[in-house]
Amino acid sequence: MRFHVLTLFPDMVMDGLNHSILGKAMEKGLISVDAIDIRDYAGNKNKKVDDYPYGGGAGMVMQPGPVYDAYEDLVKNRQIKKPRVVYMTPVGHVFDQAMAKDFASEEDLIILCGHYEGIDERVIEEIVTDPVCIGDYVLTGGELAAMVVIDATARHVEGVLSNHESAIDESFSDGLLEYPQYTRPEEFHGKHVPEVLLSGNHGLVDKWRHEKSIERTKRFRPDLLDDERNN
Ligand code: 6GU
Repeated sequence: MRFHVLTLFPDMVMDGLNHSILGKAMEKGLISVDAIDIRDYAGNKNKKVDDYPYGGGAGMVMQPGPVYDAYEDLVKNRQIKKPRVVYMTPVGHVFDQAMAKDFASEEDLIILCGHYEGIDERVIEEIVTDPVCIGDYVLTGGELAAMVVIDATARHVEGVLSNHESAIDESFSDGLLEYPQYTRPEEFHGKHVPEVLLSGNHGLVDKWRHEKSIERTKRFRPDLLDDERNN
């Protein structure tokens, strides 16, 4: 799967992603990430890509021309047939696991990052297919959010996770939060690993873990238990 990020801060995106599991997935050629600098499409000597908002107000707005030209060049060069364009914005659908799985079915995913007060609405209307927000807070730009989307999506690309890791994902996606994990030593700062985990009785371990999952979901995310989709 190929991720193409349209951004004013290409280094930020590239530096953030080539580590650990995603770094390995890139080495293996399972995924690729390229960051395209919108500023390269400024079309003026000063490389200026923003201007004052019509109607007044604080901040600057990214102009539609450079964003469109960067998009058009990308789609043409990479021969992307039905471009799926995710726009990182607080004004979008809230990103979740189902969306990550859906994005992972694409061969190419274009991710557009805004900065300042956002991007001129006309180019958004013209090229964006999926406006996506990652939570109820405001970020200074879309780059960190884009990295979140790429990470969560890449996990669903065949081969990126080991079979073992994929199996864990399955038990996680039952709509409950994960149970607590323990490893050696058996005692740490006077605290002991729960006895049942040392019992070797898989039935009891599964039952205990399921109970813990429900307990934690009730405590931290009661909305997940109310959610029809999980029942
Ligand atoms: Cl996707 N972008 C920005 N700028 N802020 C956000 C966000 C995205 N999601 C939550 N806050």
